[in-house]
Amino acid sequence: ATTLEALRAAMDAYDGCTIKPRATQLCFADGNPEAQIMLVGEGPGEQEDKLGKPFVGRAGQLLDRMLGAIGLDRTKVFIANMVPWRPPGNRNPTPEELALCAPFLQRQVELVNPRLLVTLGNVPTQALFETNQGITRMRGTWKTLNVGNWSGPVLPTLHPAFLLRTPAAKAQAWKDMLSLKQAIAEAGI
Ligand code: URA
Repeated sequence: ATTLEALRAAMDAYDGCTIKPRATQLCFADGNPEAQIMLVGEGPGEQEDKLGKPFVGRAGQLLDRMLGAIGLDRTKVFIANMVPWRPPGNRNPTPEELALCAPFLQRQVELVNPRLLVTLGNVPTQALFETNQGITRMRGTWKTLNVGNWSGPVLPTLHPAFLLRTPAAKAQAWKDMLSLKQAIAEAGI
């Protein structure tokens, strides 16, 4: 696919992933395809599955507030998920499902070609960094990564759904948001 629209159509037509038949619909990315900042989540939950849009439930509303606190909104970021179909009952995607869907996420990163990338929580962090290290160890430290043919700085941070369950961790997430804000300023974005 050479455009995001072509990629969306290819993803919609793909029948190789076992979670697709149990999902309501494809949950493609949201935000600005020209954005210089890209966020990667895990996969759609109930609300996302209903609306076909990532991060629209409670976790998404918290994410919007986190972005707002550093002057960002969905006109300035692009938001995608590791898997574009809701895993049944909101379970984590399996390694097989992640591997099958990885090329879709990689192509989104290549086509958007962001200057900065942020991973939200364990699942995208472990998948993209190819590590078993937990997010609490990984968060807050930028590393240069390759995602497909894209290469650039990636910041792992805590998932907003985790922050809803563990409000005490919000201080760490705030540090990460400030780190993102600084990186944006340094990159002249
Ligand atoms: N959690 C995610 O990781 N992605 C979404 O789109 C919604 C909740």
